[in-house]
Amino acid sequence: ADAEYVLSLIRTIPGFPNKNVLFRDFMPVLADPKGLATLLKALKLALPVAARDFDSVAGLEARGFLFGPALAASLGKGFIALRKTGKLPPETISEQYTLEYGQESVEVETNAISSNERVLIVDDLIATGGSANAAAHLVEKCGGKVAGFSFVMELQGLGGRASLGSYPASALVTMP
Ligand code: HPA
Repeated sequence: ADAEYVLSLIRTIPGFPNKNVLFRDFMPVLADPKGLATLLKALKLALPVAARDFDSVAGLEARGFLFGPALAASLGKGFIALRKTGKLPPETISEQYTLEYGQESVEVETNAISSNERVLIVDDLIATGGSANAAAHLVEKCGGKVAGFSFVMELQGLGGRASLGSYPASALVTMP
């Protein structure tokens, strides 16, 4: 019922940011008086691993920042920001990945993740899995362990879930 409620608030915009894309927008979930609380409750119920099996929550810029800290706080965990290129002062560790057009990278402060820290990675949506995999490699480069992934939405048919291999992952809703 909670996932259904979240789903009912997701807005679909055909043709954005370019034609042939059905853009899924979860901002109305956050704007709804019950939406954010329902989202957090549903994410907690759908965690891909038990809360005792991870130490912190890492969110991907930008939309992973909108609910990652709230999820972390409600679980008694800290939050780690995985940022886009050039936003953090040195020293950082970064991981490049390929987008449909060009290269992108995610960065984190060198000391943000401790050795063997078990990290749950969150983002609003998994499409092809490019940024999720880059986030996982980044956590591992820092000496951490990827406990799993929590997404709000999973887009079908783009291979995102399969690209995560054996990492535990959950998505509240799956959409075309
Ligand atoms: N919505 C938001 N972000 C996205 C989407 C989408 O439909 N596809 C790829 N990234």
